[in-house]
Formats: sequence, structure tokens, C-alpha cells
Amino acid sequence: MAITQLVLLCRQGFEAETAAEIQDIATQAGCFGYCKTKSDQGWVSYVAEDHQLKQVVEHVRFRNLIFARQWFITGDVVELSPRDRVSDVLNNMEGVPHCGEIEIVHVDTNEGKELSRLCRSLTAPLAATLRKKNKLSAKRNNKIPRMMILLLDGQQALIGYHFTNNACKWPDGILHLKSPKDAPSRSTLKLEEAWHWFIPKRQWGERLSAGMRAVDLGAAPGGWTWQLVKRNMMVDAIDNGPMKGDLMETGQVTHHTEDGFRFVPSKKVHWMVCDMAESPIKVADRMAHWIVNDWCAEAIFNLKLPMKKRYQEVRACFELMEQKFEQAGIEVDMTGKHLYHDREEITCHLRRCY
Ligand SMILES: C[S@@+](CC[C@H](N)C(=O)[O-])C[C@H]1O[C@@H](n2cnc3c(N)ncnc32)[C@H](O)[C@@H]1O
Repeated sequence: MAITQLVLLCRQGFEAETAAEIQDIATQAGCFGYCKTKSDQGWVSYVAEDHQLKQVVEHVRFRNLIFARQWFITGDVVELSPRDRVSDVLNNMEGVPHCGEIEIVHVDTNEGKELSRLCRSLTAPLAATLRKKNKLSAKRNNKIPRMMILLLDGQQALIGYHFTNNACKWPDGILHLKSPKDAPSRSTLKLEEAWHWFIPKRQWGERLSAGMRAVDLGAAPGGWTWQLVKRNMMVDAIDNGPMKGDLMETGQVTHHTEDGFRFVPSKKVHWMVCDMAESPIKVADRMAHWIVNDWCAEAIFNLKLPMKKRYQEVRACFELMEQKFEQAGIEVDMTGKHLYHDREEITCHLRRCY
């Protein structure tokens, strides 16, 4: 089986953005392929020559992709007979190297979710057979490639692999978080997921530590502030809307009924977070202003994307911020991600490099 495509999983409805982004980034990496996708299918195929696809997954950093949740290289669709799917996989994995783990996933659509039981039930027998044939290491090993199987339905699959140090660590690209019962809004999960995505767990103690000061722009009813309070930070919450009562009783929150675009902290804070439902360019401009003026060490914010040309809008926002940092002569680590808990929006992270 030759490698013929790079598969990128994404949120249903964001196939065009995922395609435009990989097309741009792969071209910059010297790969000249094209995308095939259908709207609302939850994944995109980038087709190119075998050696070029391998070059993309080695040289493009997965972390730099905003819209793709997961990726892997694979051959063409393989037919699976419901009587013996294990043998069909085994007979169609030429080109897949010796792997350290195996994941069987489905796309994140209603039809895809119906395959979750089959994914689970197929994993153990397939892994056992692959181990016997020496295609899979005896023990889980994340230093060598991970075999990825995407079930498209009960009878069709894509069989491929990726390198675990350059892919999403959650196999289907989704971090499932439990909605906390006492949080003021479901939005709370966006900030929690953003921390998991942007901050290595080993650095949480240092970068999300008790006693830090934080500003939350567009804070009401308080889902993001709740996360900051839970980590024992002191928070200035900016919003004309009301904050949920319990939060105010913690004594850690000061509510300012002001315009988030005008608020200036009295002294530098570690965190500025912003979920203001406002124009993305206006938000990007303000976020860059905070970093250039050194009002915060790190920022996490949402860019709302209700418009048609979402990818172009995101590019314009990133270019504006890049320009501002260049003019100020500062280096800033700047990343964005379409998180699982994001809908028509993406989440971004800025951190000034000193
Ligand atoms: C999506 S909600 C924020 C939800 C919040 N992050 C949470 O987890 O509960 C957006 C908020 O932005 C606020 N907002 C919009 N424009 C604003 C502005 N210019 N200044 C302050 N707040 C603003 C709105 O009042 C609204 O409460």
C-alpha cells in the first residue's frame, strides 16, 4: 500500500478551513498536492506523492495547524468484510511501519459516533493479531509511530500512521472534559481545554499558580473567571453583564462594569483572558496591544468567526498581530487552535519571549 493521502480530522462544518490551511502550509513546506473533501464529513484528504506527504508530516509542526484536530498519512480506502475485519486490515497495511500503539477512531459526526462500539470492540483482537505478526510492539511505545485506523463505516477504513511527537496526543483529537456542576457556564470548558492544549502539564505549577493575578475581559457570567479562581488566582472581571453570585463571594474577584477595550490593569498581571463577543480584528488588535505594552505575561482569547471567510479572517488577525510585534521589536509565541469546545470561534495563546 502506497501512502497516497494525509487525512486531517476536524469539526464538522470546518472542512473548507482545514483544507485551505493544509494547502497553504504544505505548499510552504514544498509539497504540491491538493485537497479532496465533502462539506460536513468531519475530515479532509490532502493528496500528494508518497515522499512529499512523508516530508509534510516530518517538517510541518502539527501544533501550527489551527483547524485540524488530528492527522495521519494513509493509503486509499480499504474494504473490510464484516466477517473478518482483522484479516482485511492485516492484508492492507503494507507501507505502515512497525508501530508502538494502535488507535481505531471515527469521525466526529452523528454517523461517525455510531461506530464507536465497533472501534472499541475491534481494537483488542486487532492489536493481539498485530503483535503476533510483529507489526505492533509488545508493550505500548510512544517513541515509534502510532498506527491509526479511521473507520468510515462498518465496511470501509483508512489505515495509516503518524509520529506521536508530531500529532495530537488524544487519538481522535478530542479532549473530553467533564462539565463542572458548579461552574457558571459551559464556556468554562473552553479555558480549561485551552490550558491543556497550550500549556504542557509539567508547567502548570509554574504558569497557573496560586496567587497570580489575572484579568478576564468579557467575563460574565463567569465561566472563565471560575477556572482562574479554582486555581486560586485573584481576578479582575470586566463586563457590563452580571457575574454569578457564588463567584463574587469567594473574595477573589473584583467586578468592573467597564468596556473591555478600555480597561488597563493597575500593574502587570500574569494572565489576561478574553472571551468578548466582538469583531475578531478588533480583539486581535487589543490582545497585541496588551502584549506590546507588557500588561500581561500570557494571554488566552477567543476569536469569534460568524462570517463566511473564516480562514481568511483568522489569517488577517494573525498577520495584524505579527506586524504589531515586529514593529515593537518583540518576539511572541503565538498559536491558535479550534478546540473541541469551540464552536464558531478559535482560541489563541500569546506569550512574550523575554
Ligand atoms: C461569550 S460571553 C463570555 C462568557 C464567559 N467567558 C464565561 O465563561 O462565562 C461574552 C461576554 O462578552 C461581553 N462583552 C462583549 N463586548 C464587551 C466589551 N466591549 N467590554 C466588556 N465586555 C464585553 C458580553 O457582555 C458577554 O458577557
